[in-house]
Amino acid sequence: MGARIQSVSTDGRAVEQAAACLRAGGLVVFPTETVYGLGADALNPKAVARVFEVKQRPRFDPLIVHIADIEWLRDIAAAFPPAARKLADRFWPGPLTFVLPKTDRVPDLVTAGLPSVAVRMPRHPLALDLIRQVGGPVAAPSANRFGHLSPSTAEDARTEVGEGADMILDGGPCPVGIESTIVSLLDPNPLLLRPGGLPLEDIESVIGPLARARHADERPQSPGRLLRHYAPRTPLSLVSAVPPRADRAGAGLLSPGPVPEAGGFAMVEMLSPALDAAEAAARLFSALRRLDAAGLSRIYALEGPERGLWRAINDRLRRASVRDAPDEIPG
Ligand code: TXA
Ligand code: MG
Repeated sequence: MGARIQSVSTDGRAVEQAAACLRAGGLVVFPTETVYGLGADALNPKAVARVFEVKQRPRFDPLIVHIADIEWLRDIAAAFPPAARKLADRFWPGPLTFVLPKTDRVPDLVTAGLPSVAVRMPRHPLALDLIRQVGGPVAAPSANRFGHLSPSTAEDARTEVGEGADMILDGGPCPVGIESTIVSLLDPNPLLLRPGGLPLEDIESVIGPLARARHADERPQSPGRLLRHYAPRTPLSLVSAVPPRADRAGAGLLSPGPVPEAGGFAMVEMLSPALDAAEAAARLFSALRRLDAAGLSRIYALEGPERGLWRAINDRLRRASVRDAPDEIPG
């Protein structure tokens, strides 16, 4: 049922077909270096509307527009401040998204009516090739239903949105595994809206200290950044130490690295034996999906150190652990 997965390694024309599909107003699931995206022609409001339907995403949550050439920004962004240029020179293509003032060319539906647009140039060769062949910007949220975990494999994307997509391009597991870092450049002081696949420290090495959005600040800037997000169905507790034996029966443990004494858990997922953050990020969402599918009473997620890519990992786990947040959207 739904869209067939087309492996790019065995089907030489898959990218060409996907580009034609997007140009014709279709929806294509494609790999990026961060997570799989559900793409539509960003300048076609009808196609974009379908993305919201398939994702069951509220219309107030804007999409990221993906480009393959920095020149395309002229069409989309009304300004490109020096800080953005410096960061783009250094990190594009890559897991970094800018929020910039938008032009009239970008449909309001894409930006949920905001006067700003989120833009990024992905680094995945398949994504770049696809967008280049489309010849214009591709709007793509992560290819999961609203509030679910982002997919880092084609198979996970199919489980999430396969019914509603016209095509799924399989480019293997996403090498970064966690969504892009989002920086707002609307004000003179750049603001971190979402920690992600590009570590904060890398950004700060280019433009100096970066202000971080507190949750209360996020709403006007990023209405879609709900506190509860990226959620498995199994209750998840973020913990700073491995829980005592008495709490382990029937529960799962997600740990950043090796745990000396993890007996008694029904299942253990270790993200990186060497405590390597890049490896851990690449494995995070599939590990969470495996734990979620195991019928556990609870998932205990052990916090990683608050630095580098671990920051983004902790952020996702924190959001996954929030139940009944005051601003949670029902359903
Ligand atoms: O790595 C990624 O960023 C992936 C891949 C597919 O590129 N995409 C992704 O998209 O994570 P999505 O839609 O799942 O998350 C985009 C986030 C949302 O939280 C949304 O609210 C925010 O970007 N966003 C989009 N446009 C915005 C804007 N104009 N101002 C502030 N936040 C915005
Ligand atoms: Mg998402």
